[in-house]
Amino acid sequence: MTDEARPLVVLTGASGGIGRSVALRLASEGYDLFCAFHSREPQIRNLRSEILSLGARCDTFKCDLIQSSSVRDIVTRVSYLLEDPQVQLRGLVNCAALLLGPSFETATEKSFDNYVAVNVRAPFFLTQQLARLMAPGSSVVNFSSAGAHFSSPGDIVYSMSKAALESMTFHAAEALARKGIRVNAVIPGFTDNGHELFSDPVVRKHMESHAVLGDVSSPETVAEAVLFLISQRSSRTTGTTLDVSGGSTLGYRHAKERISLRQKSHVDRQY
Ligand SMILES: NC(=O)c1ccc[n+]([C@@H]2O[C@H](COP(=O)([O-])OP(=O)(O)OC[C@H]3O[C@@H](n4cnc5c(N)ncnc54)[C@H](OP(=O)(O)O)[C@@H]3O)[C@@H](O)[C@H]2O)c1
Repeated sequence: MTDEARPLVVLTGASGGIGRSVALRLASEGYDLFCAFHSREPQIRNLRSEILSLGARCDTFKCDLIQSSSVRDIVTRVSYLLEDPQVQLRGLVNCAALLLGPSFETATEKSFDNYVAVNVRAPFFLTQQLARLMAPGSSVVNFSSAGAHFSSPGDIVYSMSKAALESMTFHAAEALARKGIRVNAVIPGFTDNGHELFSDPVVRKHMESHAVLGDVSSPETVAEAVLFLISQRSSRTTGTTLDVSGGSTLGYRHAKERISLRQKSHVDRQY
């Protein structure tokens, strides 16, 4: 390894709304990207062109993280890239996910297994296996969700998967600390990933109601947090979560139904 080694970051979910912003932000700071995606080939082709125009290198890789063989395929491909002594693996961003998802009533064993495969199993084994190839000072960033922090039976499987990923974050942080590798998670709230739902005024209003700061997040804001956690600017930060949800985890959405304990105790005293 030479001093001029190029830092490489493996990013899953690169074809998604947030993944795209993460890739471009990292590329603009001098990181090369290994961009894994599932189905959206035009998006990944455009993203690759934009990354190259920023002067970074970009490898793209089509995979289905429901299949456990995908993790092996990614690790094999990254190992091959690392045969170049000018390339140093410095980060992993586990951004891919199956979003929202089956409710308490509609979940099946198959849908449950698929969510766990993409949202938990793949990040776990990518972290375990790519960490073996990482240099000290490297960083892993997982993607949780505000949904892991409030009850949401309509998205129970998704929310459970994100809670598991947060748990993995702090356990893995200790496991990898001795290798000088940090592990953290970001917690986005509703983030405009380009999905048509964000253009529906009624749905948008509902989404905005979750954040004490109002509005929904932009992918660029989330990408900024990922860059911070990947970079040496966060060199003393591991095993933690960085909440970029606009305060969606503070429970504001229940404000209308919430009983004021102070008022209640006053009323109770009257009786
Ligand atoms: N947007 C939000 O409001 C929000 C809120 C909280 C947390 N998050 C989290 O932020 C992260 C990014 O979400 P996003 O909004 O960018 O979602 P998105 O636009 O739907 O992107 C999801 C990404 O995951 C990939 N993916 C899905 N299934 C896959 C599979 N079986 N194998 C491999 N890759 C697969 C998709 O690939 P293809 O597109 O190529 O199929 C896509 O790149 C996720 O972890 C999500 O849980 C998002």
